[in-house]
Amino acid sequence: MVFPTYGCMVPGIVRRFLEGVKLEAEYIFAIATYGMGKGKVTQMAEAIAQSSGYHFDYVNAVLMLDNCQPQFDIAREKEKLPEKKVDEQIEKIIADIRTRKHQSLPASFMDGFGTWICQFLGMGKEAYEQKFPKNYSIDGSCIRCGTCAKVCPMGNITVEDTVRFSTHCTTCQACIHACPKHAIHFKGERNTERWRNPDVTLNEIITANCQL
Ligand SMILES: Cc1cc2nc3c(=O)[nH]c(=O)nc-3n(C[C@H](O)[C@H](O)[C@H](O)COP(=O)(O)O)c2cc1C
Ligand code: SF4
Ligand code: SF4
Repeated sequence: MVFPTYGCMVPGIVRRFLEGVKLEAEYIFAIATYGMGKGKVTQMAEAIAQSSGYHFDYVNAVLMLDNCQPQFDIAREKEKLPEKKVDEQIEKIIADIRTRKHQSLPASFMDGFGTWICQFLGMGKEAYEQKFPKNYSIDGSCIRCGTCAKVCPMGNITVEDTVRFSTHCTTCQACIHACPKHAIHFKGERNTERWRNPDVTLNEIITANCQL
């Protein structure tokens, strides 16, 4: 399992999957990606696994670009990316997994505090997810190409005469970052810079979603 960190927690869509799935394998690993502070995300993933009847043999986290809108200036995040040495972190994790290393990743007091603050702000709750698209607006550069609908893992977007968001959002912001025209804006965003992981193609995301 490889998944991002949202609000110092396991994202809702991942949490629901982990709670419902039965995983049986000789070796199972969980890697959380994050941009600034991971909070208790890895500990929470381990707890979900345990209560769902399986366990992760190896748990780790990778510090990557922080794509969270509107808090982060994506232009600045791109500049900071080389300092994060993402490839080195991933190579170390690959070596660990190849040798079937066993590892847990407990959270520090400050990690716990980060998660507590995010929970206090309501992040991760269903009501927070449902309201999320209210922060979005579409500008006149939209060409109604439908990319936002195709990358949405929740099937939450329809594109007809205009782009419409429903309430099944999981806050991933894939729609914002994948729009070829940067036409989707988050209230209070720093600029219109966007980011998609260059190692993952748009088609791979769309095919993996299988929403349409
Ligand atoms: C809604 C949302 C919340 C996020 N919350 C956190 C966070 O609490 N801590 C953190 O370090 N990164 C946070 N991030 C940044 C992502 O974890 C990071 O950019 C991740 O590597 C993105 O992976 P993805 O491209 O697969 O979405 C958040 C991103 C989003 C969209
Ligand atoms: S991806 Fe962007 S341009 Fe395409 S339909 Fe969605 S908002 Fe419009
Ligand atoms: S792609 Fe957009 S609408 Fe769909 S879940 Fe992600 S943030 Fe919500």
